[in-house]
Amino acid sequence: MEQTLVIIKPDGVERKLIGRIIQRFEDKNLTIKEMYQGVISKDVAESHYAHLKDKSFFPELIAYMTSGPVVCLLLEGNDVIALVRQMLGATNILKAVPGTIRGDFACSTTENIVHASDSPENAAIEIRRFFSHL
Ligand code: TYD
Repeated sequence: MEQTLVIIKPDGVERKLIGRIIQRFEDKNLTIKEMYQGVISKDVAESHYAHLKDKSFFPELIAYMTSGPVVCLLLEGNDVIALVRQMLGATNILKAVPGTIRGDFACSTTENIVHASDSPENAAIEIRRFFSHL
């Protein structure tokens, strides 16, 4: 069984999409092992997106990710990392096809509703970062 880290970002919470997003993961029979709502600190947001620190949109991204509460989920299932990335849809809003979470709900590439780990290595790091009490 694999585990992955999902974040329902501030616009997902603000737009009251938490239930509909979690429903998709439950419909796919994935298991929610842990879950909480909270505001991410600037330090945590900067560590999480450190691979993008030289991009022009980085300040905007950090301001957005710390602008309000998020919901963090620890999901478990077979091939859950690749599966959940597929359910999210592409990063670029114009490439996120209908039927995916971003394709159905996101209106901008920066404010794109959800995050999910993209590899086993990053899943392990991100689970430690957002579920450090485990
Ligand atoms: P990235 O890690 O490349 O994609 P993903 O979230 O699909 O793993 O990018 C992280 C976030 O940075 C992305 O969800 C939204 C934001 N972002 C932009 O605002 N503009 C961009 O051009 C890119 C590539 C990302």
